[in-house]
Amino acid sequence: MAHELLVQGSRPDLSRAERFGPMSRSSDPVQENIISQRKADHLALCASGEVEFRRKGTLLDEVHLVHDALPDRHLDEVDLTTTLLGKRLAAPIVVSGMTGGTDEAQQINRDLARAAEALGLGFGLGSQRAMVLRPETTRTYQVRDVAPTTLVLANLGLVQARQMSTAAVGELCQTVGADALCVHLNPAMELIQPGGDRDFRGGRDVLRRLRSELGIPLVVKETGCGLSRSVGLAVRSLGITAVDVSGAGGTSWVGVETRRASGQQRQLGEELWDWGIPTAASVGLLADLGLEIIATGGLRSGIDVAHALALGATAGGLAAPVLRAHREGGYEGVVAFLRHVIEGVRAVTFLTGCRTPAELRHVPRVLGPTLRAWLTEAR
Ligand SMILES: Cc1cc2nc3c(=O)[nH]c(=O)nc-3n(C[C@H](O)[C@H](O)[C@H](O)COP(=O)(O)O)c2cc1C
Repeated sequence: MAHELLVQGSRPDLSRAERFGPMSRSSDPVQENIISQRKADHLALCASGEVEFRRKGTLLDEVHLVHDALPDRHLDEVDLTTTLLGKRLAAPIVVSGMTGGTDEAQQINRDLARAAEALGLGFGLGSQRAMVLRPETTRTYQVRDVAPTTLVLANLGLVQARQMSTAAVGELCQTVGADALCVHLNPAMELIQPGGDRDFRGGRDVLRRLRSELGIPLVVKETGCGLSRSVGLAVRSLGITAVDVSGAGGTSWVGVETRRASGQQRQLGEELWDWGIPTAASVGLLADLGLEIIATGGLRSGIDVAHALALGATAGGLAAPVLRAHREGGYEGVVAFLRHVIEGVRAVTFLTGCRTPAELRHVPRVLGPTLRAWLTEAR
C-alpha cells in the first residue's frame, strides 16, 4: 500500500484528483472562493485583536523566575543559539504558521520568512490546503529564495492529510523546501466553522503513516486549544518527537470561526470561545516526555518566551503579534518587533544567571496557584 502511494504521487500522467485524493477539487470554483474568502477573513480578524481569548490567559504570567542580582558575566556572553528540528536557530523563536493561498498571503509569507532569515529564527507556513485545491497558489507559499537557510515548516490539517497519499503530502513539503511538516489538529475550531469537519476518526493512523513514510520530521500542532499530556503520550508512542502546543490564551480559533458563523453555531462558538488548555499548562504537562516543544498561543514578548522555555519548551512561537507588526510596519516592522522579542529572552536569561536558554529549565521559580493546579490535576 505504502509503495503504491509513493508511486502514485510521482506519476505526472495522473490527474490532480488521482494524485492528491478526494480533497483535490481544483475545478470547483465555489469551494475555491470560499477558501480564499476564509483566508482573508482570518487575517483581518486576527490582526484586529478581536479574537483573542476573553477570560482565559496563557498562565505564563504565573511563572515567576527567581532574580539573580549577581550575574557573573557580560550580557554579550548570553548565547541564545538553539537547535530545533535539526536546524540551528540564532534564538529560540519561531514565527508560527499563518497563511498562504492569496496575493496578500504571499506578501506576508515572504516578508515574514525574510525576517526569519535575517534574524536566524524559524518560520511556519499556513495551511497548504489551498495549494492542493488550487495549484496556481503554490507561489504564495514559496519562500526559499528569500529564506534559503531558515527552518521552514510546512503545514497541513490532519483531516486533509487523511485524504491524501503520503507521496502527495511529501510533494507539498518538497515544493516549498520545508524542513518539517506541522500537522495541525483543530477539532474545536472545526465544530464552529461553517461547513467544518465532523469526522476526526483515524488520526493516529495518519500520523503513524506520515511518521514512517514522509521522510521529514513531523510536528503535531494544535491551533489554540493546547495539547494534553495524554495527547503528548500518544504522539510519543507513534515515534513523533516534536509538538507545537498552541495553547489557550492568545488567538482563539473558536473565536475566529464564531465571528464567521451564524445562528446556533455562533452561539456555541460564543460559549466555547475560551475552550482549551492554557499554553503554560500544556508545556508543563508535556515537559518530561522527551519531546521538542514549540510553545505557541498567546506569547507576546520575550519574557513570555523565556517563561515557556523555563517550563520545558525548546522554542517559543508567535503568530498574531507578528501579523500585527507586519500590518503596522511591513518587513521593517516585523524585524523590529522580533528583535525586541529576542532581547527580552536575552534579558531574562541574563537576569536569572543563565548563559543559554536551555539553562532556564533549571532556574528556581514560583508558580501561581492556577498553573500549579493544572500541572498536578491535569496529568
Ligand atoms: C492569521 C492566522 C492564521 C493562522 N493559520 C494557521 C494555519 O493555517 N495552520 C496552523 O497550524 N495554525 C494557524 N494559525 C495558528 C498559529 O500558528 C498559532 O498556533 C496560534 O495563532 C496561537 O498563537 P498566537 O496567539 O501568537 O496567535 C494561524 C494564526 C493566525 C493568527
